[in-house]
Amino acid sequence: MRPIRKFFIAVVGLILPMMAVAETLPVIQNVNAYESMSLNGEWNYIVDVQEEGYYDYRMNPTRWGFFVNAKPQKPEDLIEYDFDKSPTMQIPGDWNTQDERLFFYEGTVWFKKSFSMRNEELNKVLLYFGAVNYDCRVWVNGKEAGHHIGGFTPFNFDVTELLTEGENTVIVKVDNKRHAEDVPTQIFDWWNYGGITRDVKLVKVPTVYIEDYSLQLEKVKGGKGEKVREISFSARLNKAEAGHEVTVFIPELKIEKTFTTNAEGKIQSSTFNVPSKRLSLWSPENPKLYQVQVMLDNTTIADEIGFRTIETRDKQILLNGQPIFLKGISIHNEKPNGGGRANSAEDARTLLGWAKELGCNFVRLAHYPHHEEMVREAERMGILVWSEIPVYWTIAWKNPKTFENARQQLTDMIGRDHNRANVIIWSIANETPHSAERDDFLGRLAQYARTLDDTRLISMAMEVTGASNYVNRLNDNMNKYVDVVSFNEYIGWYRDVNDASKMTWEIPYNKPVIISEFGGGARYGYHGQKNQRWTEEFQENLYRENINMIDKIEGLSGTTPWILKDFRSPRRVLPGIQDYYNRKGLVSDKGEKKKAFFVLKEWYDSK
Ligand code: GCU
Repeated sequence: MRPIRKFFIAVVGLILPMMAVAETLPVIQNVNAYESMSLNGEWNYIVDVQEEGYYDYRMNPTRWGFFVNAKPQKPEDLIEYDFDKSPTMQIPGDWNTQDERLFFYEGTVWFKKSFSMRNEELNKVLLYFGAVNYDCRVWVNGKEAGHHIGGFTPFNFDVTELLTEGENTVIVKVDNKRHAEDVPTQIFDWWNYGGITRDVKLVKVPTVYIEDYSLQLEKVKGGKGEKVREISFSARLNKAEAGHEVTVFIPELKIEKTFTTNAEGKIQSSTFNVPSKRLSLWSPENPKLYQVQVMLDNTTIADEIGFRTIETRDKQILLNGQPIFLKGISIHNEKPNGGGRANSAEDARTLLGWAKELGCNFVRLAHYPHHEEMVREAERMGILVWSEIPVYWTIAWKNPKTFENARQQLTDMIGRDHNRANVIIWSIANETPHSAERDDFLGRLAQYARTLDDTRLISMAMEVTGASNYVNRLNDNMNKYVDVVSFNEYIGWYRDVNDASKMTWEIPYNKPVIISEFGGGARYGYHGQKNQRWTEEFQENLYRENINMIDKIEGLSGTTPWILKDFRSPRRVLPGIQDYYNRKGLVSDKGEKKKAFFVLKEWYDSK
């Protein structure tokens, strides 16, 4: 049967030009500042369990796949799919919470969106995705635009050559199956929401545009900070062209500075001064953002940027030169009320609003880069951020592809958010097992992160390495690569219930300490004795005991208990209690506050 089909569509196939893959480009900085056409909304989708739309029956990639979006031309034509007759779902959005047949589904789903373009819109156009989980292939008008892996970072393709005046079609193949060599790897304690989970847009850019720019306040050097502060500016064009003038305009600071690109199309960390008394520094108490315009030729990119410095001194974390205690909470990028992946400013305000009620000035966005609005809303609300890539548990340390994947996710995480004043910590891993391969992998990642951004702190969530006779030790080779020593401990839950008060800690590093996770589960509304698992009283007591214990740790500079809200996890199957939710939230999935919420709030209010 198949060869016949092959013959038929051959006719169609001949019409279509050979598939030229569009160029994968560095992610454009501050994409929301550009004129764009949103492709958010209803997309048709086809669930393709056996990837019939991509491989032939010999499992070779076929040229006659669903990306052709073929339609019968003659009555006898055999086309066994039709996007326009297929159901639709809302994009951005995961498929798990929009089609109950796909709640547990891990595999391939195809998406199609049609739109029309006017000729004058076709100068230079990037097709931008905020994030797609996990393995994503994109076609525009049947021609391949590109391929991306990694579920939590943005990517864009130059599709100028693929677009046409009038009707256009984007087709996206998304596969969220898990593999050992992936990042994250096969197992992780969160729901593997699949799909086009963040915004999609066609971004109109000039032929030469600013691919990336950075504005950072320099640390005070040798008392010079008294009268003036130094701000450094750097930029990179999409073309290696010298002589382009880039102007930075900050009206409120009476700043207007013009710089010229070098032969590489770059402006490398040029500085200018601002009178100290004119500069209001960003901090949780004063989340001051300045309106900034960056201009190149006739294009102006508007941004909101705050100025602050972050550094460590021995066991202290200094924000704007002053010691700060990070009153934090860990959060997953998940909507409340079983709504799936968070993907809007409104979702961010809901989650961050609860963190504010807790008395937080800091959040750990676990275990992957969250939606951009989560970071920007936190910046507006005066909440500091720990941002992390999903190098989680035991990944394939020896696999060069896995390293390249992790390195790319790190590049894109830092690339997207390096102008956000509230982001202070880049985390490169969580709970990774000790080995020479792991140390090598993570050591290279940490050093690479510093080449991308030497203005922020590097950390990772380590694990307690030894505990005997109530003495807990941290002994991790990675200590030399990080600025902040962070670790997860689950005293009172996974071990040593009711022994927290007897515990002491040996953390032999002259660096600030963050407890990046502690906590325990409770089903909201389930009450009983404090030694009864899953009751709010058990969780409440666990928090009390842990807080008393960790408050004595020398050099403790912050904590991000696990976790703000109950979240979905396929690893949590206890009926009537978990029901596929990790119940370690301080609020239920509906936002109902558990007793432990108030224990943590009380501590933070006392800090
Ligand atoms: C781990 C891990 C989390 C997980 C948590 C738990 O420490 O980092 O992702 O959800 O423990 O067991 O609840």
